Amino acid sequence: MKIVFVCLGNICRSPLAEGIMRHLVEKAGLRGQIDVCSAGTGAWHAGEPPDPRSTAVAGAHGVTLAGQSGRQVADADYFDSDLILAMDQSNLETLRARQPRSGCKAQVALLLAPPRGDGGEVPDPYYGGERGFDDVYELVHGACEKLLVQLRLEI
Ligand code: 4NP
Repeated sequence: MKIVFVCLGNICRSPLAEGIMRHLVEKAGLRGQIDVCSAGTGAWHAGEPPDPRSTAVAGAHGVTLAGQSGRQVADADYFDSDLILAMDQSNLETLRARQPRSGCKAQVALLLAPPRGDGGEVPDPYYGGERGFDDVYELVHGACEKLLVQLRLEI
């Protein structure tokens, strides 16, 4: 089972989602069964580490983002993964527009789509303050806990 979390830059929201989900997977003893990564629809921050504000809020909750490096979503993500989860509607639309015509295995959806959430968005915190990152953490953590429950029924 492979999951890709996707936002715009792959430095704020999706690295946090990757770190949180990996943390929950390891805590549940499911390492090796659920593989997690992240990507951005844009390439501006490719090769960069996560935003320090994401690293800080993750660290405050015992979650590490160490070793993560920004990258843009690629065709291989659609072929090789099971789930591609977008942080907002704009990311979802970009992902759907870029989807290769054939050979896709992945289901593309919003992270906060039911039953993980109310169908809303994880707001872009990039131009805001630290508070925005706390809100992103809470939203993403709640959704990842529900995602794990959902996946445990499938694996
Ligand atoms: P992210 O946040 O999509 O959560 O990684 C952003 C990061 C960078 C930019 C926008 C959003 N940017 O415009 O460079």
